[in-house]
Amino acid sequence: PTPDSHVPRDPRLIRLTGVHPFNVEAPLTDLFNEGFLTSPELFYVRNHGAVPQVQDEDIPDWEFTVEGMVANPIKITLKELMSDYENVTYPVTLVCAGNRRKEQNVVRKTKGFSWGAAGLSTALFTGVVMKDIIERAKPFRKAKYVCMEGADKLPNGYYGTSVKLNWVMDPNRGIMLAHGMNGEMLRPDHGLPLRAVIPGQIGGRSVKWLKKLIVTAEPSDNWYHIYDNRVLPTMVDPDEATRNENWWKDERYAIYDLSPNSATASPAHDEKLDLSKAAEYYTVRGYAYSGGGRRITRVQISLDQGKHWRLANIDYAEDKYRAYEDHQIFKGRLDMDWREASFCWCFWDLKILVEELKDAKDIVVRAMDESMCIQPRDMYWSVLGMMNNPWYRIAIHKEE
Ligand code: MTE
Repeated sequence: PTPDSHVPRDPRLIRLTGVHPFNVEAPLTDLFNEGFLTSPELFYVRNHGAVPQVQDEDIPDWEFTVEGMVANPIKITLKELMSDYENVTYPVTLVCAGNRRKEQNVVRKTKGFSWGAAGLSTALFTGVVMKDIIERAKPFRKAKYVCMEGADKLPNGYYGTSVKLNWVMDPNRGIMLAHGMNGEMLRPDHGLPLRAVIPGQIGGRSVKWLKKLIVTAEPSDNWYHIYDNRVLPTMVDPDEATRNENWWKDERYAIYDLSPNSATASPAHDEKLDLSKAAEYYTVRGYAYSGGGRRITRVQISLDQGKHWRLANIDYAEDKYRAYEDHQIFKGRLDMDWREASFCWCFWDLKILVEELKDAKDIVVRAMDESMCIQPRDMYWSVLGMMNNPWYRIAIHKEE
């Protein structure tokens, strides 16, 4: 038995680390086939330690505070948060900064475990806009950051990190205190009963089992803020990273917004393709996302290692989930602000003549976002193996 023995988990999830803590992703094909919204059963999990246990009857009394550089500190229960504040719902894709790290580990071992390309998931999150509660706390003029702290006690203290106060105050950033996921309560692995959801940023900023917001003049000094979720310069290898503490102290290396990324779900790695009917079409499919609310504006496919590119079709999750506005589980109340920004992955597809696939060695994909930021050809290796986003390649295997 592990400290998490009480937490229900789906056997389809692939374990990426040992028995405990729980770190899993779904098989990419299963994740993709669910569509834009991921069921809680297949939602990726990244836990640094044991899942805090909360009895059902104690959930409404979960206490949560806003403190630090504020004129009006707040202590509030979940029940009060749900009744005293407006609750909103919108779709958000959470992405672990380690998504696709396996490719980095193949080139050169990093200090992180090997995520495939399914370290991301999407849900309709329900909660209170963080801005609303921070406003009531009345931050001092010199305040610049909002630090968050969870209830999971880890070897180096509670899990915590921070984001900029001006992001929290920007409604187009959609930063939320969430208690619901796809119309249900959060599941234990995903922060039951309360978590931060920071759309467009790496999952590591969305603190689960949230207990505290601390308004400060400086970024968080939490161990996990400093020694996790950073892209250090390439020459800092595991030895150098241990030897010289200073590499970790540079806030410029901290990751916030996601960068453009994409992957192919179909064909899957090692899938054998029937290429006997040259005149037919094969549809290549996958996902793409970017950060900071920026929309993916093009996805391109190459069959000749990047010499020529063709444009794929893109379906945006946001367009589909507009329909949810009238859905009764959300009582007709989906927040409008998220429409101004893109907080979700999108799906792309392209029909290719089987004839052309026969002659190709691999299928390469790259995505670009509305700031014209594009996935690079080459990998940027770093010691934590995070934010890996070079062109995604799938070798073509023909059925004999
Ligand atoms: N919050 C707490 N309290 N403890 C954690 O271990 N992991 C973070 C973040 N929030 C973590 C946390 C990381 S690294 C990621 S990627 C996301 O939670 C994962 O969220 P999920 O498990 O709901 O997918």
